[in-house]
Amino acid sequence: MSKRLFITGGTGYLGGALLRLAAGRGYTLGASYLSQQPPGVPGIAWARLDIRDPQAVHEVLQSFRPDVVIHTAFVQYEPDLMAITAEGSGHVAQAAAELGARLIHMSSDVIFDGERAEPYTEAEPPAPISAYGEAKAAAERLVAAAYPGAAIIRTSLIYGFEPLDRQTRFALEIADGQRGDRLFSDEYRCPIFVDDLAAALLELAEIDYAGVLHVAGAERVSRYEMGTLLARALGYDPARIQAGRSADLPVRRPRNCALNIGRASALLHTRLRGLRELLKDRAQIEGNLA
Ligand SMILES: NC(=O)c1ccc[n+]([C@@H]2O[C@H](COP(=O)([O-])OP(=O)(O)OC[C@H]3O[C@@H](n4cnc5c(N)ncnc54)[C@H](OP(=O)(O)O)[C@@H]3O)[C@@H](O)[C@H]2O)c1
Repeated sequence: MSKRLFITGGTGYLGGALLRLAAGRGYTLGASYLSQQPPGVPGIAWARLDIRDPQAVHEVLQSFRPDVVIHTAFVQYEPDLMAITAEGSGHVAQAAAELGARLIHMSSDVIFDGERAEPYTEAEPPAPISAYGEAKAAAERLVAAAYPGAAIIRTSLIYGFEPLDRQTRFALEIADGQRGDRLFSDEYRCPIFVDDLAAALLELAEIDYAGVLHVAGAERVSRYEMGTLLARALGYDPARIQAGRSADLPVRRPRNCALNIGRASALLHTRLRGLRELLKDRAQIEGNLA
């Protein structure tokens, strides 16, 4: 019998990529949406769900009876940041634990303050410095308390091409002269290609990994490097993108949230490609198609 996989936030960027990949792998799929109309893809049982409501979370999961839940639903900003991103994650973990379903909870590199010179390992304690980072760190605590068997996956900036992600769209709008923002040359992350992340998560769905795991791209780049590399790869003029300094801002932001992915790389077959490697692979595929 095929495994039953439920994705919270199926209308989101990662949720959509997960559903597209899982559809070809024989899963019976369920997914939740809130404000967006879900795409009319056949074969997915969609449920409208607000994860702020613990009873609704319980009912939706009890009715679908998943073997695996991948929890991607969240918000990054107020209002209701804590209620959705932190407490909502706790409700999902509680409901998954009651069902004995495997749970993969999505977390973020911004649970760290970004002050460390070396990439963060799973052993480093969270030290968030933004409201979003606080909410994601609180979510990790609530999920681990409700369901110690859950896998808590910290990832970095997620990018992809079909459709384009937020970060790439932003960079292309700068390169196109539609906006005058600068991209920080002193903020470092390990961006991950959305299809690599989705493949890694589906691999994790099949094994019993409990606790925190860092799943990000293998290369540390600045936001400026990321924007200019993606702009060039997509046929835009990267010279139109100006660099700025996060250190010059009045608010403190995490500067160096590079993640050490040694543990995930040893555990998973999926290669967690760095940005330059991914763009090289993509150019090669496009060249072969031309
Ligand atoms: N994107 C990144 O670069 C990045 C980086 C690090 C970590 N992450 C983590 O990866 C995960 C997925 O990110 P993403 O960028 O793919 O997300 P996204 O595109 O912003 O999608 C968020 C999803 O959450 C749903 N949602 C929002 N509020 C909800 C609520 N109250 N109840 C139920 N569902 C709700 C949305 O539904 P509707 O749209 O239908 O309302 C949407 O499907 C998140 O946990 C995030 O913290 C992302």
